Amino acid sequence: MSELLDLVVAERHQEATDVVSLILRRPDGAPLPGWEPGAHIDLVLDEGLERQYSLCGGDASSWRIAVLRETDGRGGSAHVHRELEVGRRVRARGPRNHFRLEPATSYRFVAGGIGITPILPMLAAAGTRGRLFYGGRSLRSMAFATELAALHPAGRVHLHEGLLDLTTQLADLRPGELVYACGPESLLAAVEALVPPDALRTERFTPVAAPVGGDEAFEVELARSGRTLTVPAGRSVLATLQDAGIEVLYSCTEGTCGTCETDVVAGAVDHRDSVLTPQEQACNETMMVCVSRAAKGGRLTLDL
Ligand code: FES
Repeated sequence: MSELLDLVVAERHQEATDVVSLILRRPDGAPLPGWEPGAHIDLVLDEGLERQYSLCGGDASSWRIAVLRETDGRGGSAHVHRELEVGRRVRARGPRNHFRLEPATSYRFVAGGIGITPILPMLAAAGTRGRLFYGGRSLRSMAFATELAALHPAGRVHLHEGLLDLTTQLADLRPGELVYACGPESLLAAVEALVPPDALRTERFTPVAAPVGGDEAFEVELARSGRTLTVPAGRSVLATLQDAGIEVLYSCTEGTCGTCETDVVAGAVDHRDSVLTPQEQACNETMMVCVSRAAKGGRLTLDL
């Protein structure tokens, strides 16, 4: 069970029209758990209000996140903008990483709006092997635009007001090159239409559309306790585990954060998450119990 860390907002900066960045530290300044580009943390903002934010900077004793104020959001970003002033305490869990920078000969990064946050440390880690195409409504709305322009040569960072010209920007991918994309669903769908799945890594803020209807009840065996539970149609594995008093860490409950990832001992999974790559889903080693189910007519054994 991942430990909850008590943190304090050490700094707060306005990074764009509706984006603030926060520097979080432990109150005593002690080191924080290490992380790699692509990692995110869960911020526990209030009772029942928990959100995931990519780490976009920091050092051994600090984490930097950036949060877009979403006018039609579900309350998390508004809470951060309203409440998390310098000096305020906040609890966090993690880091966790489902968007790792895998070895490649070169990288093309595509970011839309606040999707720049996980990409920022990736670009730094990729060094001269990485190029960034970053789009937003206007330069004023694009967080870290000035920082990016100052840190990287113009040939490596391309900032665009309005829609990215992906057909041109993703043309002539080289053998061994990987594309990393993060941003709104429309942008990710456009990238997915242009880049073969084995050369593409994406991170989603919203879940991919899950299949509607057709759910069947199935059995889940819990390898460690030897118990067997029946997951009813229309009820998730996570909810069934909770009903049985079995504690599983979770956060988003919609298959986007990776918190509820559980090892699969046996059985074929009908993966419905937006976290695992197609290759990881095919491996069938883990599943997100908040959304994924047993493949039709099957039964699962989980490492619980
Ligand atoms: S709780 Fe977020 S993926 Fe399951």
